[in-house]
Amino acid sequence: MDNPPARGLPPLPNVSIDLDSGRLTGASSGYAKRFAELRGVFADDEALTALIEERPEAVAYEVSEWRRSDEAGDLAFGTTVLQPVMVGREFNMTRGHLHRVADRTEMYLGLAGEGALVLTGPDGPSRVVALSRGSVAYVPPWTRHRAVNVGSTEFAFLFCYPADAGQDYDAVERGGGLPIMIVSDGQGGWRAETRSRHLRGAGTVSGRDTGRD
Ligand code: F6R
Ligand code: ZN
Repeated sequence: MDNPPARGLPPLPNVSIDLDSGRLTGASSGYAKRFAELRGVFADDEALTALIEERPEAVAYEVSEWRRSDEAGDLAFGTTVLQPVMVGREFNMTRGHLHRVADRTEMYLGLAGEGALVLTGPDGPSRVVALSRGSVAYVPPWTRHRAVNVGSTEFAFLFCYPADAGQDYDAVERGGGLPIMIVSDGQGGWRAETRSRHLRGAGTVSGRDTGRD
């Protein structure tokens, strides 16, 4: 997009977000991710299998976004809503990814519920940022990131990132998952724990996801 358009404006979004639920209307795309598609993501394979057997269609999280294009310089934005579910000791979370264009950054804004954002830099060190209504988190370049619902209600956040960033899920998988897991502290709260590789399930993240679903 080196030159301004000859005339007029491109189509503009007709989007609104319910700030209490994080539900977005007017999305250009979206998806629901079921627990059945998250094998290998959680440390406790048995707990995940039991959950899937009991509720095969159970949804872990939903993503809705709006974008005009995938072009450099453009923006994509939307919301993610994570269900309050435990998988063994671990809280429900997104798959986690590195941006396919790895130097692309992102911002998250907490809307509803209580969450955490796990950030892992290229050479390993991790940070966990608590997210609740009104708190803002920043994903630096080259940083794997995953959102976690650490509360007992839905956790919703807004995200905004460069439209050409993409998501590389294999990068997380290749690294053996993220080195931090968010678990119950046994007293109604949460804590971050180092995730030893041997804790990982035998399964792999379902699919070779390069698309946005
Ligand atoms: C986009 C982004 C979020 C997540 C969404 C689902 O770059 O970080 O929109 O994509 O919260 O998480 P994943 O993609 O890890 O399944
Ligand atoms: Zn991202």
